[in-house]
Amino acid sequence: MKTFPHTFLWGGATAANQVEGAYLEEGKGLSTSDVQPHGVFGEVVERVPGDAGIKDVAIDFYHRYPEDIALFAEMGFNCLRVSIAWTRIFPNGDDAEPNEAGLAFYDKLFDEMALHNITPLVTLSHYEMPWALVKNYGGWGNRKVIGFFERYARTVFERFKGKVKLWLTFNEINMSLHAPMTGVGLPADSSKADIYQAIHHQLVASALAVKACHEIVPEGKIGNMLLGGLMYPLSCKPDDVFKTLQENRSWQFFGDVQCRGAYPGYMLRYFRDNGFELTITDSDREALKYTVDFISFSYYMTGCVTADEALNNKARGNILNMVPNPHLESSEWGWQIDPLGLRTLLNVLWDRYQKPLFIVENGLGAKDKVEADGSINDDYRISYLNDHLVQAREAIEDGVELMGFTSWGPIDLVSASKAELSKRYGFIYVDRNDDGSGTLARSKKKSFGWYKEVIATHGASLKE
Ligand code: BG6
Repeated sequence: MKTFPHTFLWGGATAANQVEGAYLEEGKGLSTSDVQPHGVFGEVVERVPGDAGIKDVAIDFYHRYPEDIALFAEMGFNCLRVSIAWTRIFPNGDDAEPNEAGLAFYDKLFDEMALHNITPLVTLSHYEMPWALVKNYGGWGNRKVIGFFERYARTVFERFKGKVKLWLTFNEINMSLHAPMTGVGLPADSSKADIYQAIHHQLVASALAVKACHEIVPEGKIGNMLLGGLMYPLSCKPDDVFKTLQENRSWQFFGDVQCRGAYPGYMLRYFRDNGFELTITDSDREALKYTVDFISFSYYMTGCVTADEALNNKARGNILNMVPNPHLESSEWGWQIDPLGLRTLLNVLWDRYQKPLFIVENGLGAKDKVEADGSINDDYRISYLNDHLVQAREAIEDGVELMGFTSWGPIDLVSASKAELSKRYGFIYVDRNDDGSGTLARSKKKSFGWYKEVIATHGASLKE
């Protein structure tokens, strides 16, 4: 019988701005997420305190986390991915002292997890940064932000070193190419050269966080986080195959820098060919040598690439430009479902880096129907996760070192791309709607019991 290793980390993944709410409580500052009420691709809207944007309350995890963690524990989670909101710790990013109330909140959160033997996996920056750093410094375009981030990272490593041993630097660091405000605090119409300069600063900051983590939490491990955007050639035409290599390198480049400690030659050529003259100092090059201990990534879909401009239509998934694959079904949101692609991606990343891997996001966003008796029969979600986990297990059989699996949104949360609550990922339903109505009450979906059994049997209950 095929099972996952008994040391495997099983759980779910969340992000502060998508679950916590309490967006101005206890000294928290405004973040880039707070000023993007329509999601990561939406325009910036400066907030007035008291505005009832959906993320202001989100699912109120800030106040309800003990109940939620107890439910995660009931499913058998031994791991929970959360992020720290940088703005709870340094409300403006450049504050002289950290905000004690923000630190105290995460102390309580990690203590609650410890009570249930749940290992925290903590993202330092998940799709948000202090809005004041964008307004006053120009976001990651300004080299000074590296220092502010390093101070924030060192502050939380020092404070939580006894409680948190697993860390991630920047969520989906490659997303900056598609959502510059969310990724690097730059306006959507910024030039590619400016975006790459900001990305460079963020890569240096990521490496300095690795260095700091190793100094302050020596028994800890710190990883990067990539959007695993695996692309296939639409045909076997050599032009399609080569373009696909380039498309895959456009996101693998981030992993190459973070895992190998230097810019790959193909990227330096890309900068040269496009006339991008990035400022990369000797001390930046030294910093980049601090490489991550493991690679984490999200996986939702794959897409196709063609060199034929006429076929190059707009993306169907809302994340990357990709041509639909005629052999795959799509979710209600147009994300193409490809379980075998996960096995391919795991093998590609393992072959490329030979570092442990961690699937820190995977799942199906779907509209759920609450039946008259209150039950929610989310067989589509069970089937999606079952099929992806089967392929993850196959990849382990292939020799891939896989640390764990945290499904995205184990409890319904606000979606990142469009800030919707109707796009649900959870095993736990939250009674809240896109218009903000609802009681916020939690209830178990059918998938709750299914995931519990998967974890309890170390995956033996999965259906091939
Ligand atoms: C990833 C993000 O891109 O995908 C998450 O790291 C996000 O923050 C998830 O929520 C799913 O996307 P969406 O738009 O369905 O929430």
